[in-house]
Amino acid sequence: MTAAASGLARRLGDILGADGVLTEAADCAPFLVDHLGRCRGRALAVALPRTVSEVSRLLALCETERIGVVPQAGNTSYCGGGIPDDSGRQLVLSLKRLNHIRALDAGNYSLVAEAGCILSQVQQAAEAAGRFFPLSIGSQGSCQIGGNLSTNAGGVNVLRYGMMRDLVLGLEVALPGGRVLEGLSTLRKDNTGYDIKSLFLGAEGTLGVITAASFKLFPQPQVRATALAALPDVRAAVTLLGELRAASGDRISSFELIPRAAIELTTRHIPGVTDPLPGGNEWSVLCELSSSRAAEPLDALLEEALAAALERGTVRDAVLTRSERERAALWKLRESIPEAQRHEGASLKHDISLPVVALPDFVARAAPWISANVPDGRLVAYGHVGDGNLHFNVSQLPGADRERFLARADGVRRAVHDLVREFGGSFSAEHGIGVLKVGELERYASPVELELMRAVKRAFDPHGIMNPGKVLRREAAAADA
Ligand code: MLT
Ligand code: ZN
Repeated sequence: MTAAASGLARRLGDILGADGVLTEAADCAPFLVDHLGRCRGRALAVALPRTVSEVSRLLALCETERIGVVPQAGNTSYCGGGIPDDSGRQLVLSLKRLNHIRALDAGNYSLVAEAGCILSQVQQAAEAAGRFFPLSIGSQGSCQIGGNLSTNAGGVNVLRYGMMRDLVLGLEVALPGGRVLEGLSTLRKDNTGYDIKSLFLGAEGTLGVITAASFKLFPQPQVRATALAALPDVRAAVTLLGELRAASGDRISSFELIPRAAIELTTRHIPGVTDPLPGGNEWSVLCELSSSRAAEPLDALLEEALAAALERGTVRDAVLTRSERERAALWKLRESIPEAQRHEGASLKHDISLPVVALPDFVARAAPWISANVPDGRLVAYGHVGDGNLHFNVSQLPGADRERFLARADGVRRAVHDLVREFGGSFSAEHGIGVLKVGELERYASPVELELMRAVKRAFDPHGIMNPGKVLRREAAAADA
């Protein structure tokens, strides 16, 4: 360690206690690489504060010393937002010890959680009080609330409950320089000027460190009906979504597209996953209705709606789950698609969103382009079709050369994202920008948007110490942080 680094570690130790600062290479290592192994960095140290006051004092020190701070929650992100650069001059600020549920008010349908709480911990706290916290994503057993807030996470219940932004009532945020924004309101209505908290949601730690948040809770679903329906094409998925919304009085909470390729990958790589509808159909959807009224006959409703869709030809085949075990098996198939893709080899990932009605034409243009231009890859386009969000991924074919396949990434990204723009969509639906999509943001955001984003960054973080180089490229004046 250099003299400067050991001086800093000592001063951090004064704030955080001896066990609150990691400097040994082996201790720091897990914080310096993302879970996909795509982004790696080095750091001066890893700080493990326990309280907002410690975070605030740490940010005051880092502002004075012009040290870049990289907030990190569960480290499950896809875009490298929580990993330091390779200068070795940044500090990783792990939120894992800020992990308490501070309050839960069942009558007010609200909960206050610290940023290092694991998502499933928040879901369970709500459930224990007879309430429901609806954010649900594949990594919920390890991702942390601070990361979910900072990337405005989505997942499988967005269709009914919205994204993370829609679930937040208030935030507590430690700002560069050490001030703390104390905004843990649990009010539903509060129109008092600019919505400052909104700026931190999706900012990926570039404006300040979210240390806690107050959330909306909902009545717990008492009854669910879940089915897998095989479809002729993506247009049928959009049609079925409309039909089910109408037939169910909008009881749909999830509507997930699953292509044949994903069923083949999950059944091949994930123990216990089987194909519930063998028959070679190219596309399926996993649809789930739910209600907090126990008496609602959702199974019958879903069965009837699917039978009618079968007659009309929207659906080719369908299976309804009859037990919690069968339901869990369907969800396992869906949620293990990313893991199965990892087992298959390298993949080119595109987290795109489009107006739902544009999805069929988009896929009809983009899928043949992939077949023609990526001979060593296979399209695995799946995801939250009910929200217009597809993970338009391409998996390396077995036996293909990994490096040659990955060398196609830039060209494929350009073609896919340009087409997304042509269809009025977004190149970043729910995984954020991090470091990997900074160039994409520069390409697709308008000059006015970029100018306003840079002005916001300068206003909150004039010395550029907060997660430098993430979301926006560093500005010259902030180059030393
Ligand atoms: C999912 O919906 O499974 C994830 O957001 C996408 C992924 O893990 O690639
Ligand atoms: Zn997703």
